[in-house]
Amino acid sequence: MKILSAKNYEEMSMIAARMITEKVEADPKAVLGFATGGTPKGTYEKLVAAFKKGAVTFQQVTTFNLDEYVGLPPEHPNSYHTYMNEQLFNETNIPVGQRFIPNGLASDLQSEAADYEKQIQAHDGIDLQLLGIGKNGHIGFNEPGTVFTQRTHRVALTPSTRKANARYFESMAEVPTHALTMGIQTILESKEILLLAAGRHKAEAVYRLITGQQPDEQFPASSLYSHPNLTLIADEEALSLATTHDRSHFS
Ligand code: PGA
Repeated sequence: MKILSAKNYEEMSMIAARMITEKVEADPKAVLGFATGGTPKGTYEKLVAAFKKGAVTFQQVTTFNLDEYVGLPPEHPNSYHTYMNEQLFNETNIPVGQRFIPNGLASDLQSEAADYEKQIQAHDGIDLQLLGIGKNGHIGFNEPGTVFTQRTHRVALTPSTRKANARYFESMAEVPTHALTMGIQTILESKEILLLAAGRHKAEAVYRLITGQQPDEQFPASSLYSHPNLTLIADEEALSLATTHDRSHFS
């Protein structure tokens, strides 16, 4: 794991966006894995700005999102379809047919999950996956206890994740109870991973990630230890519990 320390959220977002645009410049047909939530919003904002300036084009890229809530129609204001439309898709030029997000309304979620995996394989896998980390160490919606060999599947959201996401809904009762998510195995097969973390509330998770030695299913982000091309981009607050000594064995 490589660690890039950013001054703040703005700088973290700038670094991530730059790494994504460099990837697309080097390989205009890159397959990009995208994440939702609060953390990557700044990155998408920077990608939109770069696109509007004419510094990058996304005409040939393909995108796969990590996850989607079960039971929310794509047009629901809190669906991850809506999130991606608002944060990136409506503002850039990624063709509609090249954007993939799991369908949380599929009548057969198991076959939807299998089809999602097939699409990823048909595109020769994900070149660059953007990831966030949950306070409990989840990646995508892979909660503590998830087997690391799982591929895209339906999950029950833990109370802490539902609570963390309740800020986007009118009431707790409206927060979906399930989601479809890429599995940890799917994520690990990405050729490169950018893991973003910002804010004091992520400091415990980042500390555990940096100081943990062994993969531990109770802390899903520890599955990433085995990944050969992982960069953690974290701001000072997220890194505030990890001393220079803790970080010293990373480049
Ligand atoms: P956040 O979520 O970006 O909204 O903090 C990250 C995550 O839970 O994976």
